[in-house]
Amino acid sequence: MNRTCLAVILAAGDSTRMKSSISKVLHPIAGLPMIAHVMTAVQAAGMQDAVLVVGRDAENVTKAGSLAGMQVSAVLQTERRGTGHAVLTARDVIANGYDDVLVTYGDVPLVKPETFLAARRRRAEGADVVVIGFKAENPFGYGRLLVENGELAAIREEKDASEEERRVTRCNSGLMVINGVRALEWLEKIGNSNAKGEYYLTDIVEIARAHGGRVVAIDAPEEELAGCNTRAELAALEASWQKRRRHELMLSGVSMVAPETVFLAHDTVLHPDVLIEPNVVFGPGVTVETGAVIHAFSHLEGAHVAAGATVGPFARLRPGAVLGEDAKVGNFCEVKKAEIGAGAKVNHLTYIGDAFVGAGTNIGAGTITCNYDGVNKHETRIGQNAFIGSNSALVAPVTIGDGAYVASGSVITENVPGDALAFGRARQEVKPERAKAVRERALALKAARKADR
Ligand code: UD1
Ligand code: CA
Repeated sequence: MNRTCLAVILAAGDSTRMKSSISKVLHPIAGLPMIAHVMTAVQAAGMQDAVLVVGRDAENVTKAGSLAGMQVSAVLQTERRGTGHAVLTARDVIANGYDDVLVTYGDVPLVKPETFLAARRRRAEGADVVVIGFKAENPFGYGRLLVENGELAAIREEKDASEEERRVTRCNSGLMVINGVRALEWLEKIGNSNAKGEYYLTDIVEIARAHGGRVVAIDAPEEELAGCNTRAELAALEASWQKRRRHELMLSGVSMVAPETVFLAHDTVLHPDVLIEPNVVFGPGVTVETGAVIHAFSHLEGAHVAAGATVGPFARLRPGAVLGEDAKVGNFCEVKKAEIGAGAKVNHLTYIGDAFVGAGTNIGAGTITCNYDGVNKHETRIGQNAFIGSNSALVAPVTIGDGAYVASGSVITENVPGDALAFGRARQEVKPERAKAVRERALALKAARKADR
């Protein structure tokens, strides 16, 4: 949109009901602070300038709300004197002059960029104030939108509303776009003679109209406008976000057998034709490429899974796990900071950490890369098409060459050259007839004891 727009994000609430030591807007949804969700949507709606109105944790809120490619500043509202007062705290930034000023809340994190854009479009079409409203399931506590002849005449707060006004179910989300040229003029006129003794931003509706402004309301889905006051609401927002994101991913070609049991992070990337089985958790930083399968009960974080690879069931990929095409990491395996080459298999009960496993290599059940000496981490390098026998301990730093073979049960402390066979265990001895002799001696002892009694 070819208009300048400043976003003013109100985030000075004291978060009392969260019972938290940090500002509520710092609490994460899908692993990303709430405030960052708001800023991402604001940026996606084409706004380059934003000002955060903060109360507590100013520094951390500003940090969490600062995105690359966006001019974000913060102003401190030391006293909570209402939403109108909060917006005016950003007076100096608003005075820079913008076509439009968007006001939104730091604790309303699920608003879609399209909703901001829809409001901005109405403003571009000539409305001076565009209020984003919604049809409330239960309107109690919200400001009511009072409409006359298709125009928004006023917003009445619960405490100031008449019996009849309270019956209105179309409510104010608190989000609005204001004519940036006239914003300060109107904001300055807001007073505080109301039930709460606060400066209500909502009064701008009547003020703008009284001064020749045109005011409209548009509607958005209630679930997009849900706010966060308690931990229970935080959990509901998380659930709502998860549901929405799973749906988007499924529509983009990802299969989920039981979507309600899959937990995504804000930045999870799943390509089309990926299959996610039930009960899979994605921490931040995961990409899964096409055709890969994540079997049930797996946990992935900071991992890259290439096309056709399979993970789990019951696998854990920790940060730095990189699986090549068609690689396999099976049940009860943990991979950390390690590359598993194309077609390599790590199928059962194994820990691979700080390692490189070449293409086509097979890692036997129970293999452990002993990467930690109690002080430092060391690397294990395994070449291509090697074979590591079951229950081997590879004591890093150690290198195993291409095509090498490690006998099962080995403790490998020295490098193994390519195509070599290495044993790191006691040699087997076989004593003919010895088992029988031992057994007969034991039986004789038992008989003698019985005779003694
Ligand atoms: C406000 C609206 C109401 C709307 C509701 C939607 C007003 C007067 N009322 O009511 O019409 O239905 O939101 O949730 O605007 N904040 C500050 N500084 C302040 C006051 C508030 O930063 O001095 C921030 C809060 O942190 C919050 C937002 O502004 O993010 C809304 O404040 P809140 O007190 O929740 O407003 P409501 O009274 O619920
Ligand atoms: Ca509120």
